[in-house]
Amino acid sequence: MRPFRAAVIGTGFIGPVHVEGLRRAGVQVAALIGSTPEKTRTACQRSGIAPDHESLQSVLDDPTIHAVHLTTPNQLHYPQVQAVLRSGKHVLCEKPLAVDSRQSAHLVELAQVAGVAAGVAYNIRFYPLCHEARARVHQGLIGQVFHVTGSYVQDWLLKASDFNWRVLAEEGGALRAVADIGTHWLDLVQFITGQKIVSVCADLQTVHPQRHRPVGGSQTFSGAAAAGAPAPSQPTAIQTEDAGAVLLQLANGARGVLWVSQTTAGRKNCLRFEIAGAEQTLAWNSESPNELWIGNRDTANQSLIRDPSLLQDSAAQIAAYPGGHNEGFPDTFKQLFCQFYQYIEVGDLSAAAPFPTFAEGHQEILLCEAILQSHHQRGWVTVGGKGVGRRA
Ligand SMILES: NC(=O)c1ccc[n+]([C@@H]2O[C@H](COP(=O)([O-])OP(=O)(O)OC[C@H]3O[C@@H](n4cnc5c(N)ncnc54)[C@H](O)[C@@H]3O)[C@@H](O)[C@H]2O)c1
Repeated sequence: MRPFRAAVIGTGFIGPVHVEGLRRAGVQVAALIGSTPEKTRTACQRSGIAPDHESLQSVLDDPTIHAVHLTTPNQLHYPQVQAVLRSGKHVLCEKPLAVDSRQSAHLVELAQVAGVAAGVAYNIRFYPLCHEARARVHQGLIGQVFHVTGSYVQDWLLKASDFNWRVLAEEGGALRAVADIGTHWLDLVQFITGQKIVSVCADLQTVHPQRHRPVGGSQTFSGAAAAGAPAPSQPTAIQTEDAGAVLLQLANGARGVLWVSQTTAGRKNCLRFEIAGAEQTLAWNSESPNELWIGNRDTANQSLIRDPSLLQDSAAQIAAYPGGHNEGFPDTFKQLFCQFYQYIEVGDLSAAAPFPTFAEGHQEILLCEAILQSHHQRGWVTVGGKGVGRRA
């Protein structure tokens, strides 16, 4: 691959993960930009990056930088993606692509006109066993998909004293737990089954209608580490949901259900799916990601341990280490970035992208809007449609 140079915007939880993943994918990180010059300097120093650029604009003005990774809070994605597209650079945006479907539809159009690679970081697809599950479903090994169930649960917002910009609708968007983590699950099951979710029925729950907002801000995923001496805080009303259930219908008629929560003690970051077909069931858990459970009716069940020599080609290609040498969360970013930059290297940007596209990012936002509408209207909603179809 030619020596690509990338910039990462955002120095919080996930920005440094992009820096590490880019380096492991063989891409030079030319700039890392925070919200203030001081944050930029500190983050660059920590990551060994020359602080030659101090703003997104200076990155966009640098013709030696090929691509920009946006890892800033959600409401900045829309203006920042537009700026990157105007500059003619490739863009990889953290999820969600934008905060509403008007914005995300506009970004889909702009990206098409710009003629650059434009991706959204739904990284969970890039666990090799998630690619394996997709290959098995597409080869018909599990038979017709009947139902898709699972959950994505965490505990870092369990207490009313836990706080982050995400809990505020004006900063993270009106839908929170479902949009923040549930969309990873929704993206993943659509990727694996190849079926779009066409209608939803949701029931959301705000466990803490009031949280204590620390004066001076808080860190993402600070969890128990934040439980020292109580910091000064102010009571803040919360409109976004901590948890929720979503019933689903897929385009092929399969049914499903998703449970999402950021208030489940002990579950740190746990995504589980179970895809039941006419012949077999596939089940996977992101907290033990090197193992895929294969359920059979008439023979013993199986456990497939991630080992490139045992996987389908598409999964083996994104498994870098031999079996037993466990791969995890940081590897998914490396593999996503390898796919993104190899696609640019090949140069046919009209070819199907091997990473989540802006169109798929837009679809996730349509799903979120349908879920929120369904919750408010207490009934089924067609994804992307205006009407609400209430069922008996
Ligand atoms: N794919 C994943 O697994 C994953 C995981 C976590 C977060 N995310 C997404 O990444 C984004 C960031 O989340 P996070 O958890 O890292 O949040 P965070 O609050 O930890 O970090 C956000 C960073 O953006 C910086 N920032 C704010 N305004 C800026 C500006 N104008 N210019 C440059 N930097 C600015 C902040 O200083 C902060 O360092 C969110 O959209 C989130 O949904 C994705």
